[in-house]
Amino acid sequence: ASLAVWEQSRRRASEEEEGGGGGFPCEYTALNLNCGCPSPKVAGKGCFGAALMDDPILVRECVRAMRDGSGGTLPVTVKCRIGTDASLGLERFTREGYGAIEDGREYSKLREFVETVASDGIATDFQIHARIAVLTKSFSPADNRKVPPLKYEYVRRLTEDYPELTFSLNGGIETLYRAREELERCPTLAGIMVGRGMAADPWGFACADEVLYAGNGAGADADDEVGDDRPKNRLELLESYGRHADHEESIKDPIYIRRFVAKAVSPLFAGEPNAKKFRIALDRIGGLPKQLRNGGSNNSKKSGATEGAEWIPGVGLDGQTKVSELILNAAHEHLSDEVLRSTPREGWERRQWEE
Ligand SMILES: Cc1cc2nc3c(=O)[nH]c(=O)nc-3n(C[C@H](O)[C@H](O)[C@H](O)COP(=O)(O)O)c2cc1C
Repeated sequence: ASLAVWEQSRRRASEEEEGGGGGFPCEYTALNLNCGCPSPKVAGKGCFGAALMDDPILVRECVRAMRDGSGGTLPVTVKCRIGTDASLGLERFTREGYGAIEDGREYSKLREFVETVASDGIATDFQIHARIAVLTKSFSPADNRKVPPLKYEYVRRLTEDYPELTFSLNGGIETLYRAREELERCPTLAGIMVGRGMAADPWGFACADEVLYAGNGAGADADDEVGDDRPKNRLELLESYGRHADHEESIKDPIYIRRFVAKAVSPLFAGEPNAKKFRIALDRIGGLPKQLRNGGSNNSKKSGATEGAEWIPGVGLDGQTKVSELILNAAHEHLSDEVLRSTPREGWERRQWEE
């Protein structure tokens, strides 16, 4: 699946380069094999995701095939769990049953996986979600991201046992503050991977480079933020995102993509006054093309109905306000100028204070 995605992106990038498609090409820097997904679709068939952890030789072969498939041009990394219920011989997951398993046995299974996968020298970088995946049907993906206990200590031990490999820690780390704590506790970690925390409050990570890598943290001179081309505040970010969103809507019909376009900025003001009003406005913006296409009515007609605003490829919705403008208007209407113009550093300072 990773190769198909990569091929697709490569094709898209070259098409855009040739056609001058507006310049948002995908330039991937690595391929990642997902051996951590616990979806029920995966569990039964044992063919991808976390079920792969029970067959490390197959994972090694997949890694080799991915490397060869990319012509040897891209590193292949592996995302995994610390194990699966099946590999530990658990017929049904219970806290007591799992708790009775000896740490040494569980850790040696994880070592065996890492050692086998890394043994031909291709995969050297692992991102580890530090809880087991429970692949029995009764466990939902959401359960699988919260019920099995986190065992960060296994990932820390891997960094000591295999200094020639690199490991990133994942699972339950929700803030930049916590990420920094874990990195300080174990400097041999290559990184921290954050999933849901980042999705819920992306702005909370806007200072990550500075806090984690510059070594000067929140005490640095505020002028450091000026001088590169990254957005300096969320108003600039929305302006920049708006250009991307308009481009997307010129190449794909907004009736299909507007909801995704609007949803992507929905958590940007998490924790700020009136964030909910902004999210509600984005929801409305997300549903607008469908409404317009249906001639202003909320009753959705079959897709393809074109009574109202038509989509003109290369332009967007005929005669309608661009999505960039709608988003900016909603931001100005519901959020204060102070919030819109606050810097990543101010956000980081507030969050530190809250921790
Ligand atoms: C909605 C959703 C989609 C995810 N998709 C992927 C994925 O495509 N590939 C992957 O390796 N992990 C995926 N994950 C798992 C996360 O990368 C991460 O391992 C997991 O959420 C635990 O980290 P967290 O506690 O920081 O969220 C997904 C998680 C969520 C909630």
